[in-house]
Amino acid sequence: DKELLDQEKQVAAQAALRWVRDGMLVGLGTGSTAAHFIKLLGQKVQAGELRIQATATSVASENLARQLGIPLVEPHRGLRFDLTVDGADELDPQLNLIKGGGGALLREKVLATASAYMLVIADSSKAVAQLGQFPLPLEVVSFALPWVMDAVAATGGNPVVRMDKNDPNKYAYSDQGNLLIDCHYGHLLNPSELAKQLKTIPGLVEHGLFLGLARAALVVREGQAQVLRA
Ligand code: A5P
Repeated sequence: DKELLDQEKQVAAQAALRWVRDGMLVGLGTGSTAAHFIKLLGQKVQAGELRIQATATSVASENLARQLGIPLVEPHRGLRFDLTVDGADELDPQLNLIKGGGGALLREKVLATASAYMLVIADSSKAVAQLGQFPLPLEVVSFALPWVMDAVAATGGNPVVRMDKNDPNKYAYSDQGNLLIDCHYGHLLNPSELAKQLKTIPGLVEHGLFLGLARAALVVREGQAQVLRA
């Protein structure tokens, strides 16, 4: 249930602290698991036990980090992260991921790609044999929405525009002011081929397939964080 999963998220986040070293530039993920990590990291920073700088993958994570006194770095040329710690909606045995359930996939992919090391933290429900049960999120420029819907439908994606959690009559918007689409493909037999196809659709800014980006994952099983490596 939800409470147990939240405990697992906490365990994974706690275990991730061991990856953080003094002086590191750290990418901060988005979502409930990443929020646990940011809070624990903030405690270490406040206690003077860690000196790090960070950039966040969403406005929500940035606000949380700021409240906790984690020093933030603005994006600039040449900025590379030693480590990014982020959650995932699904991860397969090769550590390919589906991300974007929280709508932050674009910045998440930018930071993961600008990082020497991406570490995924996940409760037991996230590990799957094959990706695709969780609907694949896409970020889309609003002008292009109708044509992106057509193009995604042609790939078998059953696209649904994401609605605002607080107002089901309104679209949900990303931090960049774009729309989000959730695609119901079912099991993805060939994620890399699909990723290539999606990248050719104009107006589709980014998709939530993170292939070959994660280097390691901390997945909780029977209350313990287990390290999986790509
Ligand atoms: C945010 O856009 C997502 O990629 C999150 O990383 C993902 O949804 C996991 O969220 P939870 O940690 O809340 O499950």
